[in-house]
Amino acid sequence: MSENSATSNKAKPSSEKAGMQLLVQLLPFIKPYRKMVFGAVLALIFTAGVSLALGQGIRILVDQGFDSADPALLNQAMMILASITVALAFGTFIRFYLVSWLGERVSNDIRLAVFKHLLTLHPHYFEENRSGEINARLTTDTTLLQSIIGSSISMALRNTLTFAGGLVMMLVTNLKLALIVLASVPLIVLPMMMYGRRVRSLSRQSQDTVAEVGTYAGEIVQNIKVVQGFTRETEEALAFSGEVEKAFNVAKKRILQRSLLIIIAMTLVFTGLSTMIWVGAQDVGSGLITSGELSAFVFYAIMVAMAVATISEVYGELQRAAGATERLMDLLSAEPDIAAPAAPVSLPDGPLPLSFEGVTFAYPSRPDQNALEDLSFTIEAGETVAIVGPSGAGKTTLFEMLQRFYDPQVGQITVADAAITDLSPQNLREHLGVVPQQPTLFSSDVWHNIRYGKPNASDEETQQAARQANAHDFIERLPEGYNSYLGEQGVRLSGGQRQRVAIARAMLKNPAILLLDEATSALDAESEAKVTAALQELMQGRTTLIIAHRLATVMHADRILLMEEGRIIAQGKHDELLEQSELYQRLCKLQFDH
Ligand SMILES: Nc1ncnc2c1ncn2[C@@H]1O[C@H](COP(=O)(O)OP(=O)(O)OP(=O)(O)O)[C@@H](O)[C@H]1O
Ligand SMILES: [Mg+2]
Repeated sequence: MSENSATSNKAKPSSEKAGMQLLVQLLPFIKPYRKMVFGAVLALIFTAGVSLALGQGIRILVDQGFDSADPALLNQAMMILASITVALAFGTFIRFYLVSWLGERVSNDIRLAVFKHLLTLHPHYFEENRSGEINARLTTDTTLLQSIIGSSISMALRNTLTFAGGLVMMLVTNLKLALIVLASVPLIVLPMMMYGRRVRSLSRQSQDTVAEVGTYAGEIVQNIKVVQGFTRETEEALAFSGEVEKAFNVAKKRILQRSLLIIIAMTLVFTGLSTMIWVGAQDVGSGLITSGELSAFVFYAIMVAMAVATISEVYGELQRAAGATERLMDLLSAEPDIAAPAAPVSLPDGPLPLSFEGVTFAYPSRPDQNALEDLSFTIEAGETVAIVGPSGAGKTTLFEMLQRFYDPQVGQITVADAAITDLSPQNLREHLGVVPQQPTLFSSDVWHNIRYGKPNASDEETQQAARQANAHDFIERLPEGYNSYLGEQGVRLSGGQRQRVAIARAMLKNPAILLLDEATSALDAESEAKVTAALQELMQGRTTLIIAHRLATVMHADRILLMEEGRIIAQGKHDELLEQSELYQRLCKLQFDH
């Protein structure tokens, strides 16, 4: 597992799409909250207007209050200033609340939309994209969006408004000084544009490397016993520090670019500002303008400069958000390979027959090696068929095909004479009960795990299923019985206990077709005998496929299919196969001779 590398860094070239265009893709998520947006924009315009009025307040205060030395006028000017400040505070409160609310709401909506979409994707998608990366998108990327929608966009808008308003007020207050300031604007905006692009691509890389760090740590934590058992702590720490350094180096580059961006903008802005004050002070000296006018003008100029500085900083943030948006939209637009047809047929109730017709299949990740090769067989409704064969023969693959986790390259699979591609995958899977080779449990209690296939089952039904699976007794002995928490992936149970919970789950679902993949392989002889007896009963009246290595388990099947290298090489009853197949003889001999 430590050979984990950055090879899966699938950062796509994104330069063809402008950053801001990407952000437009967020609009559908913001749309449902138009009212909030409207309120926020209103508050935004209001506060921007009030900020601008503050400049006039200052002019009055300086000219009337300071220059005329009349206490009444000074008081009046102070009152005006105070009311402007209160209005500003009130508007800011509304704006801040609404905008932050939007950020939280929308990012959670996106999180949910992405998660819902993930649930529809074919299993192969998750083999290609490591779970840690997907987690990072759901958490880091959406959090980034939350800060963007919840603050950066509003900051950008507010500062654009104050920039424009401040500029107009500057021009109105003093044309000559305003022109000096204007001359410096392109000098500030150009480097900003130049760097923005670079920051965005670095930002995407940065997010990806952080995701990799998460993936790596997740895998190690999950397999901690293997790591410690093979005393690989030092190597893993070393490998992890490699991942961390990689993330740090990318982040360092991004930070450098952003710092440069800020320093350039600041220097230019303050040079322009001081030049202007210098010129203005001379004009006050020669009586061309009043000191109140100069004060107001400086106020507007600072406001405009701050706006430019903020916009340049926020622009970097927006670029990062564009990167996050792009990744999330990539996820959202991933097409499921396995989908329901436009007009799906639905399966009847009762035992169902099934067949494979010339099925050839290679896993997408191994296109030149067929896991199943021209596989054909039919299973009658209610029949119990065992599948045996050496490891890697394709037995589990056959089950996965039947559940339609993959589609075959050639041939088709039918259930009750309907091609499974004509069914909705949900309808198909509702009729299947699977006990997988490696039973998967959720980090919840026993109730939840057994009821997973039938959430509305009563307590009695659930316990009945557990009894049939010979699980009830050990569950009762757990610290909190059925309410016991099983730990991540059910780590608090033994292999055989996990298997029995999985069998109980399948039994409770009461499916038309039962698929057992080495369902009793981890049980001791006594438990196995009990569970097998219960399974025999469960198999009555339903179609059952059993994969088993232990031939004792399969001898009672109506028929046995012998698989080797993706093909069925023989089939029949136990005795017939013993006569027909040398491989079967060999398998039996190994089973019974020791
Ligand atoms: N997700 C996968 N991606 C690529 N190849 C796979 C995948 N799963 C299985 N294979 C390959 O397909 C072949 C058949 O595997 P399968 O799991 O069906 O064997 P099996 O008969 O169930 O073996 P076992 O008795 O050991 O469980 C093997 O060569 C295996 O390496
Ligand atoms: Mg298998």
